[in-house]
Amino acid sequence: MPRTALITAGAGGIGLAIARKFAAEGTRVHVLDIDEAALARATATEGITGSRADAADAPALRAAVEVAIAALGGLDVLINNVGIAGPTAPVAEYPLDAWQKVIDVNLTGTFVASAAAIPHLRKSQQGSIVIMSSLAGRFGYPNRSAYSATKWGLVGLAKTMAMELGPDGITCNAILPGAVAGERIDAVLRGRAEANGTTPEDERRGALRNQSVQRFVDPDEIAALAWFLASPAARSISGQIFPIDGDSRAAV
Ligand SMILES: NC(=O)c1ccc[n+]([C@@H]2O[C@H](COP(=O)([O-])OP(=O)(O)OC[C@H]3O[C@@H](n4cnc5c(N)ncnc54)[C@H](O)[C@@H]3O)[C@@H](O)[C@H]2O)c1
Repeated sequence: MPRTALITAGAGGIGLAIARKFAAEGTRVHVLDIDEAALARATATEGITGSRADAADAPALRAAVEVAIAALGGLDVLINNVGIAGPTAPVAEYPLDAWQKVIDVNLTGTFVASAAAIPHLRKSQQGSIVIMSSLAGRFGYPNRSAYSATKWGLVGLAKTMAMELGPDGITCNAILPGAVAGERIDAVLRGRAEANGTTPEDERRGALRNQSVQRFVDPDEIAALAWFLASPAARSISGQIFPIDGDSRAAV
């Protein structure tokens, strides 16, 4: 089982669920995050340490990855979880600076953390990289062009790193979650209900119409998948995408 793991944006949401799963299984986990208060809460769990890093700041992120791996004493697993949604606007009206920010965090942040971690993963007997893409990494996503473009880009990065690193025994896979249960989707549904003059329950039914399985994904289920992909049972699984979205037919 992996002894050490580094998780970007690991102090909240899906990243924290993954951090807690790995820590519960006995892996020593370090989380990087931009939010100091969230870091303080996350590191209250035994087995989880953390430090501040803004994934949009490439030199700072690279340095934080190096310091974290030194503190962990090596690295078996890198979970590239960081990702921001960006604004909601059609391409013709999408602000260039917002486009650039989403690219910087989602795509360049993952590239930078991976590049810094790879020399250390090469020294591991069980190295693996997991990249958090999205349902928007296999469908178009109207009004979220930057998000969708980066999430497709991450699939290309995952497949390329799988090919480059396979000979060193390092696996690389992408997880593509659909809508995740929790406060974020609840707020989205409340906002849509207000805009459309409907109820949140109507909006929930509407969103689930695009899925076969009639429920949103639990972060713990994504954590369990990440844990499996980093486990010895998955040593031959690499370069693959893993949708976890109730068989969704669109990003909505
Ligand atoms: N929540 C969903 O419905 C969903 C669906 C599909 C994919 N995803 C992907 O899963 C990943 C995690 O999503 P989430 O919903 O848990 O995220 P979230 O919005 O809950 O944020 C998780 C953490 O990211 C940190 N963060 C934000 N910007 C950062 C930055 N620039 N540098 C470092 N840390 C930063 C936050 O402080 C927070 O602790 C993302 O890549 C997201 O695109 C989420």
